[in-house]
Parts: sequence; structure tokens; C-alpha cells
Amino acid sequence: MPHTSEFPVAAFDEEDQSGLRAVHAELAEIEKELSAGGDIEPAPVPRVSMRPSLMPPRSMGSVVGESIGLREVYRVIDRVAHTACTVLVTGESGTGKELVARAVHESSPRAARPFVAVNCGAIPEALLESELFGHAKGAFTGAHATKPGRIAMAEGGTLFLDEVGEIPLSLQVKLLRILQVREYSPVGDTRTVKADVRIVAATNVDLEKAVAEGKFREDLYYRLNVIHVHVPPLRERATDVALLAAHFFAQARERMGRPDLTGFSQSTLKLMIDYPWPGNVRELENTIERAVLLARGPQVEPKDLPAKVCGLASEPRGPQQLPQGGIDLRSAVDAFENNLIRQALERTSWNKNRAAALLGLNRTTLVEMLKRKRIGSNAA
Ligand SMILES: Nc1ncnc2c1ncn2[C@@H]1O[C@H](COP(=O)(O)OP(=O)(O)OP(=O)(O)O)[C@@H](O)[C@H]1O
Ligand SMILES: [Mg+2]
Repeated sequence: MPHTSEFPVAAFDEEDQSGLRAVHAELAEIEKELSAGGDIEPAPVPRVSMRPSLMPPRSMGSVVGESIGLREVYRVIDRVAHTACTVLVTGESGTGKELVARAVHESSPRAARPFVAVNCGAIPEALLESELFGHAKGAFTGAHATKPGRIAMAEGGTLFLDEVGEIPLSLQVKLLRILQVREYSPVGDTRTVKADVRIVAATNVDLEKAVAEGKFREDLYYRLNVIHVHVPPLRERATDVALLAAHFFAQARERMGRPDLTGFSQSTLKLMIDYPWPGNVRELENTIERAVLLARGPQVEPKDLPAKVCGLASEPRGPQQLPQGGIDLRSAVDAFENNLIRQALERTSWNKNRAAALLGLNRTTLVEMLKRKRIGSNAA
């Protein structure tokens, strides 16, 4: 669908419009390049020029990764960071949404001012309102003194609303007012306070679905979704796995005092690249931390990885009954064999002599099978 400039400008304030125009111009350029059959790499954007160099950045803040998916994230941040427009960050759990939100802040003119995060899903509903908006003395039992809320703490900076889909409907209207007129009233206070905050929100739930189900206000959704940044799951950015693994390895080695460890063996790296990482970057980070703890060295080996990363738990076992439509016998037997071989290797900490004994094979046969099946340390 062609991108036109016909977004409902009247619905957005100056800052939002400026961000929308920037992204719109970028999309139009990409579209032009695509229809001309050309490369989609940076094209000059005549109307909105924000950086001396038009190359999209290859890194941003502490976000590690150079995959196409992440570069798209950097590109959008780069286009809108200088504005104060609202950004909605979506993505599965553990993909790095908070890090991206911080990168928006750090790339903005507000970087020297506070970045204040509020986890809307972790604060009980009864407390969230006063936590966000603050309260006046005597506003409720226990309110012994006036207390500023997180919005006031973020003044001049960025307010990060994490798990924004969890904000109760009763508070959504108050939040909408901040986004529309940049003002609010603390709990128990009739005064109106001005707020100069940039809002970045994050969610791993489908907000459109929440809107359809009546759990999230549609007007608030549109106000939050001015600029949408989607952080792709790690399984869709395989090229980042090695970079991130090296990054977390260096951190863990330092933290745990393991200068004897030199890095990952080829087979360990291959297993990590092949694994789909359902828990995304957080799971990779934890896996490396555990591996650095367990590794005898000098390299991190497959036996230092959790069984599921080695494919042990997920290896298909093959059907017990002949399916209606028939079967590929060779691959079913293969899957059956692989599963038992991997279990034997895991049980013996990848000691091939003992694993072969467990399987009733001699060592040479097992080594040949591993090579042929590309399992473990011969896999690379
Ligand atoms: N690209 C990245 N580079 C470096 N570290 C990363 C990257 N992405 C995520 N991490 C690290 O992975 C962990 C999870 O990231 P983060 O908390 O930002 O994810 P999230 O999407 O907010 O997760 P959740 O939905 O569970 O809140 C953090 O420790 C973060 O520092
Ligand atoms: Mg988070």
C-alpha cells in the first residue's frame, strides 16, 4: 500500500506531527527505492534532514546487534529521538524493549534529564495512581505528606511506561490527558500541574486486541502508538546471536573472574545459533552466565549449555504408530537415534567413551555417527 501523507494531523500535536512526518518521509523513500528495484539503503530525505550522515546507525546506546531487524529499530529511533513524540515499543518478552526505550532517551536532547521507568503491571492498582501522579497531603489514609509522582520525577526527561497494557481502565483516562494536554492533577489535589515529559511505552501484549476486547481505550492506544518500534524476536535475528553471546561472555567472564576462558568452541556457537531462544535475549544472557560458571575451560563447550539448547529436550522422538498418511522411515529412525545419542552424551557430560558404552556401540562408531549426524563437537 502506498504511503501517503494523509495521516489525521489534527489529532496530533506539533511534536507528534514532526515525528510522523519523519517516519513518513523515510517510508516513502524506501517505497520509491523498492518500486525502482533498487537497494533500500539510505536515500536522501529532502523534507526532514536530521543527521549530517544519512547512513542508518549500526548501534545505539547499549543495544548490541547489527541484524536487519535491529537496524530498522535504530533507523526509526534516529528519526524521532530529537522530537518529544510518544513511542510505543512492542516485542516478545526479553527482546530488549526496555533497552530500546533507554536508547530513545539517550539519543534525545533529554538525555541529561531523568529516565523514569514505571512497571504498570507490577504496581498494585490502588497504588499506581499515586505512584504515577503523586498525591497531596491527606489525600488518603497514610498520606502524611505531599509526595511527587513518577511523572514529576521525570520532568524534562522521559517517562517509560512498561507493560502499559496493564494500566487499569480507570487510570487510562488520566494518562490520556497527559498525552493530550500535558497536564494532570495529583491524587487529592484540585490543582492542575503541567508535565514536560516524553512518554515511551512498552508492551508484549496485543494492544489492538485489548482495544477490541474493551480492556484498553482506543483513543489512548492511538495516542501511544504515534511512533511504533517493533523489536523482533531473537530467532528472527540469527546474526545477532554471536554478537550478543560474545558481549554477555565478556561481561560474565569479568564479573566472575574467569580470565582463563577464551571463548566458545565452534560447536557451542553453532548450537546457540541453531536454538530458537523462546525467552529471547534474556534467555541467552542467562545461558551464557550459567555456561561461564560451569565451564572448565579453556573454551565454553556444548556440555556447559542447558540440555534444551543442545536439542536434547526438543529432539523429535518419532511416532510410535504409523501415521495415516505414511511416514519417511529414514528420518523417523534418524530422529529416534539422535534422541538417544544426545541423551547418552548429556548423561556422560559428553564423554564419548562412556556414551558409546551406554549405547552398546564402540567409540569409533559413535564418533562416526556424530560426524554424519552433525551432532555436538563435530557439528561445526
Ligand atoms: N540488543 C541487546 N543488547 C544487549 N543486551 C540486551 C539486548 N536486548 C536485550 N538485552 C538484555 O536482555 C535483558 C532483557 O532485556 P529487556 O529487559 O530490555 O527486555 P524486555 O523486552 O523489556 O523484556 P520484558 O518484556 O520481559 O520486560 C536485559 O538484561 C537487557 O540488558
Ligand atoms: Mg521490560
